[in-house]
Amino acid sequence: MLTGMRVVIGVTGGIAAYKIPLLVRILVKEGAAVRVVMTRHAEKFVSPLTLRTLSGNPVLSRMFDADGGPSMAHIEWPREADLMVIAPATANFIGKMAHGIADDLLSTMVLTLNTPLLIVPSMNTRMVNHPAVVQNLAILRERGIHILDAETGDLACGEEGAGRMAEVDEIVQVARALLVPSGSLSGKRVIVTAGPTLEPIDPVRYIGNRSSGKMGYAVAAEAQRRGAAVTLVSGPSGLEPPRGVQIVRVTTALEMREALLARFAETDVLIMAAAVGDYRVVDPAPEKIKKGPVTRSLELTANPDILQELSRRRDRQVLVGFAAETDHLEAEARRKLSEKGLDLLVANDVSKPDSGFGADNNRVLILDRLGGRETTDLVPKGEVAGRLLDRLSAAFL
Ligand code: PMT
Repeated sequence: MLTGMRVVIGVTGGIAAYKIPLLVRILVKEGAAVRVVMTRHAEKFVSPLTLRTLSGNPVLSRMFDADGGPSMAHIEWPREADLMVIAPATANFIGKMAHGIADDLLSTMVLTLNTPLLIVPSMNTRMVNHPAVVQNLAILRERGIHILDAETGDLACGEEGAGRMAEVDEIVQVARALLVPSGSLSGKRVIVTAGPTLEPIDPVRYIGNRSSGKMGYAVAAEAQRRGAAVTLVSGPSGLEPPRGVQIVRVTTALEMREALLARFAETDVLIMAAAVGDYRVVDPAPEKIKKGPVTRSLELTANPDILQELSRRRDRQVLVGFAAETDHLEAEARRKLSEKGLDLLVANDVSKPDSGFGADNNRVLILDRLGGRETTDLVPKGEVAGRLLDRLSAAFL
């Protein structure tokens, strides 16, 4: 079932568009929320009214609203989607995608998309074999776009050969695999920590750090999408918890420790993306500290290392840590992996403005205790979460 999944289907102008109402019907029956975007030529092959009726949503094709104002759908629909499918994808549309051309609503949406994209080519044999099309498809594949290759068989033009759009059942199968990837965490209980801890100095001041919670929330969302029962133990963060995730809010490192100790025995996987304060103030003042001498000192004491403590208590739990470093990234990551007794560790360089704290993207090194090592380019935090969970599922579950 695809309950709760949001799919945008882009239809371009090929005869195979007549099969798309069936695709919409099946995805809706499986519980997905489906939205359809059409190119002007696609409207010649299949009626927007049919697709509107079957999807239960407005069907869009123009960049501008009826009143002439710009629509924001080219940003909103891709942002809200878990998957985009373009079927049929014509040679023209594939060419536009390969070269970043955005001259209508659907091609503009492709450029704002941040989630997996599946394209299903359909065209005449000579077109599918044309070097330009072959090269354009190779560019898209290189970019990580999923392509469900055209099949060989009878074509609508009366010829026989390669170019026929893959069957609707096959499109559904691939869409399902992309929405609920292998490495499913179904039946697993996963705790993710996120955000900073804030250690009080007095009732109005604290020692904190710059964690926004984005990395941990992305891991929680991805684990939930893969079928896990997820509890997110979060330090103060302005983010909305992902749908379907149980949220436990804490402020200090000691509160985070309590929340984790209470749940650890029932947990299969603990992923600590939170930036836990290493120190707290020994005696936070009960009243606001008044302005006074030019210099003041705070007496600090070390917080317990939660991950290390849980590592000593574990029986079957898989433990994942994050390491925030400003130098000697790999050496420090290896030291933490071993000293904290972890299965897997994700290290990020937090001295760079485009990644680490507060950013939407991250660039990480993933190490595991079996000697596995991989790095990512600068990618959205959701993608880092996916890579981490892929490795975790493959090696430890
Ligand atoms: O929240 P964002 O803005 O998206 O930023 C993401 C992030 C940079 C916070 C995240 O990617 C990250 O690196 N989190 C770990 C930050 C950190 O505390 O690193 P550390 O190297 O100090 O700690 C190593 C591991 O031990 C971490 O898993 C940490 O949660 C854990 N720890 C640390 C101290 C402590 N007292 N107890 C712990 O359990």
